[in-house]
Amino acid sequence: MNIRQLLSDKFQAAMLAAGIPEECGPVVAPAKKAGFGDYQANGAMGAAKRMSTNPRELAGKILEQLDKGDMIEKVEIAGPGFLNIHLSEQWLGQQLWAAQSNKRLNVAAAQEPKTVVIDYSSPNLAKEMHVGHLRTTIIGDALARLLEFQGHKVVRQNHMGDWGTQFGMLLAHLSDKLADSDAEVALADLEVFYREAKVRFDDEEGFADRARGYVVKLQGGDEQCLKLWKQFIDISISHCEEIYSKLNVTLEQGDIYAESRYNDDLPVLVKELLDSGIAVEDQGAIVIFLEEMADKEGNPSPMIIQKKGGGYLYATTDLAAIRYRTNQLNADRILYVVDARQSLHLQQTFVASRKAGFTPESTALEHCTFGTMMGDDGKPFKTRSGGTVKLAALLNEAVERAEKLVAEKNPELDTKTCAEIARKVGIGAVKYADLSKTRTNDYIFSWESMLSFEGNTAPYLQYAYTRVRSIFRKAGIEPSELKGNIQLESPQERALAIKLSQFGEVLDQVAKDTFPHVLCTYLYELASAYMSFYEACPVLKEGVSEQQKHSRLQLCNLVASTIATGLDLLGIEVMEQM
Ligand code: ARG
Repeated sequence: MNIRQLLSDKFQAAMLAAGIPEECGPVVAPAKKAGFGDYQANGAMGAAKRMSTNPRELAGKILEQLDKGDMIEKVEIAGPGFLNIHLSEQWLGQQLWAAQSNKRLNVAAAQEPKTVVIDYSSPNLAKEMHVGHLRTTIIGDALARLLEFQGHKVVRQNHMGDWGTQFGMLLAHLSDKLADSDAEVALADLEVFYREAKVRFDDEEGFADRARGYVVKLQGGDEQCLKLWKQFIDISISHCEEIYSKLNVTLEQGDIYAESRYNDDLPVLVKELLDSGIAVEDQGAIVIFLEEMADKEGNPSPMIIQKKGGGYLYATTDLAAIRYRTNQLNADRILYVVDARQSLHLQQTFVASRKAGFTPESTALEHCTFGTMMGDDGKPFKTRSGGTVKLAALLNEAVERAEKLVAEKNPELDTKTCAEIARKVGIGAVKYADLSKTRTNDYIFSWESMLSFEGNTAPYLQYAYTRVRSIFRKAGIEPSELKGNIQLESPQERALAIKLSQFGEVLDQVAKDTFPHVLCTYLYELASAYMSFYEACPVLKEGVSEQQKHSRLQLCNLVASTIATGLDLLGIEVMEQM
């Protein structure tokens, strides 16, 4: 259910009936302050301006036409023509009741399910996954889960970098190493391996030539070489999979569609683009000149798709990929969860793809950018010695830190339970810290704040969840045994009810704008509304009538399921105690 949408539809209809042109939207939003109703419709003012009439009068006319149904209790005209909407208590109670009795929490499945392709994680396999891959992996996975929950068909695309000239150097080094060890051992630490190879490439006589020889062999499809390459790739992928499983990320083997998969298509694609005149030869290279992205002087933006020597580029592969996603995967919408620094590249890819007719206007192309993860010092996150932080090490540290906290908070826990809780808390903290920030901004990675039990953090929400659940243990009641209507007598109950019933519209908003922090903010506000409710409205105290107890326990139950479902959509687990 999406209250905002339901109200928008009602007010839009009333506005039309009042003779207001369709372009004037009803502008419905949740009320910002208490005492101004539950929602506001502010469209009368804009419409009055356009029609040169008095806004309060126009607001009155809209009200005359409004079909309140059983949803709206009353509407007040305030100030210059705001419409303050009060929802019917009975209606709200019914919605909550419906939410409680269904697994989807009364969130309607998308009316028009779309095929959404999401390109995320996509690490380069030449190296180990490092913190630079954290944001794309976490954000992309949250979007995938959420869109799937809404009933869309989500196709995950892990566009791993498994091809390119750097593999020449790696393969030359690997073949030497294999003389006295097996690949598993040689590649146990990819970071070290890469560094060794690079040193040899830069310093060792003849090595660079051998490396280049490997590139040529690889591209020529030499069998021995491909076998070596495959060994390297498989081990590197298994490193990634360890991380995915630690991170509780849904990416699987079948979601990998790496750069090499497009190899055969690259010459075909370049030829087609040349034939159609979209690409031209320029100083030996093949280039697409994008007038659509011209600079101030009017010079088109050049996108090279084949180098002078015949080599293909990152951009060529991305054009092949976008075509595949549009035509083979039948995408209605393609999300690229990729670092903001690749904006120009993706913009060019999008514009070129439209221009070449690969992707029709009906398929949405969206670059979901994100900023950089910074250290406490405000500089990009690094190890103390200035190296890149391996993701595996970072996640282990998160769990270790969480283990200390959990053991302190609850010394009675046995080691096994404590370890399991610590895993959920530590990983949840890292993910939530990232997801709760507006993704387009840089953010500061801080262990202290992400592991705090206060404020907008995963531990706070996980703890809130355990507290709500503990009420049921205390009461000795299962949620399935609750009965009777949900009554919303106190203002805190009402405020909580409104928050609870906004879950669906929050999901809709995240699905549309792809900003997961909106869901985090919502869950945090929900937990806060619950705390206020819990302080003001006794649930199990003496003197609380049986009916009231059942009504309030139903609210508690919905809070628990909404937090659990919301966190699950963010890829974060809850636990019964901590
Ligand atoms: N492998 C790239 C990197 O690590 C990211 C790929 C993003 N996706 C894409 N279709 N270009 O920077």
